[in-house]
Amino acid sequence: MQAVGVIGAGQMGAGIAQVSAQAGYRVLLSDVSRERAEAGKAGIAKALDRLVTKEKLTSEARDAALALIEPVESVAAMGACALVIEAATEREEIKRAIFAEIGTVLGADAILASNTSSIPITRLAQASPDPARFVGVHFFNPVPVMGLIELIRGLATSDATVATVEAYAQSLGKQVVRANDAPGFIVNRVLMPMLNEACFALGEGVASVRDIDLGCQLGLNHPMGPLTLADFIGLDTCLEICRVLFTSTGDPKFRPAPLLVKYVEAGWFGRKTKRGFYDYTGPEPVPTR
Ligand code: CAA
Repeated sequence: MQAVGVIGAGQMGAGIAQVSAQAGYRVLLSDVSRERAEAGKAGIAKALDRLVTKEKLTSEARDAALALIEPVESVAAMGACALVIEAATEREEIKRAIFAEIGTVLGADAILASNTSSIPITRLAQASPDPARFVGVHFFNPVPVMGLIELIRGLATSDATVATVEAYAQSLGKQVVRANDAPGFIVNRVLMPMLNEACFALGEGVASVRDIDLGCQLGLNHPMGPLTLADFIGLDTCLEICRVLFTSTGDPKFRPAPLLVKYVEAGWFGRKTKRGFYDYTGPEPVPTR
């Protein structure tokens, strides 16, 4: 494959750029400005340095991966990319504006993929240059660690598009699961009700933050408790996905927990704002309830 374009140099976009470069793809990385794209690349350099320190990567492999990542001014530079992956903010109007811009340069055979975690692929495809060459490719955080990619086909996505993106995903060393374009796809459909239920349990006084998390972590053998994971994903993102599940199905089982709504209204989004179910201002996270 020729170059891969990655739109969005935040946590997800940088992770996608990193694993693509490590798999040998040339990557064009964009964000709202070249500076933001450069900052994304600087973060990738740090992540690769850590792998070198841990002797999981040679310094030659780090240098080779970094050399493959080119921060660019805008998506206008992505005309020669065979695959462009949008990993911008999870807001539909932002994604639609990006698709309109990429539509002016995307090659005739190139594929546009979105890393959306909750917006319907069939609807997003309507704003893409060609719905047959549009697909959902859902990575998990932290991208370099998590072994899964969900591939979501919209109604109009072609078989060739699915096959090409599946081959790319596998070349990154990830396992691929295919989902139809249903709310939350597979993983968030199952995960979000659990995280939301942990918020209900906390709000109803069932147990403390520590005990809910420790109970689920050790009792279910999960790597993180649900409240820690919600903070890690971002409470704003969790609420948004719960709302998508709730409004698109109309099923009350997906209604967001009042405490989750309150925390988001307070601007307590979890790790990224240093306050969620834990306080992250000190050396170790401290439960807040
Ligand atoms: N980037 C790269 N590597 C990372 C990392 C990051 N942000 N965070 C941790 N790692 C690596 C560490 O370097 C370490 O690597 P080695 O084993 O090679 O040394 C390994 O992951 C384990 O890390 P730690 O020992 O520091 O900590 P841990 O054992 O607690 O693992 C974790 C951290 C991998 C994040 C683990 O807690 C975990 O898997 N948590 C669950 C994550 C999860 O569920 N993600 C999905 C969220 S849902 C989503 O993303 C989709 C959506 O749409 C919302």
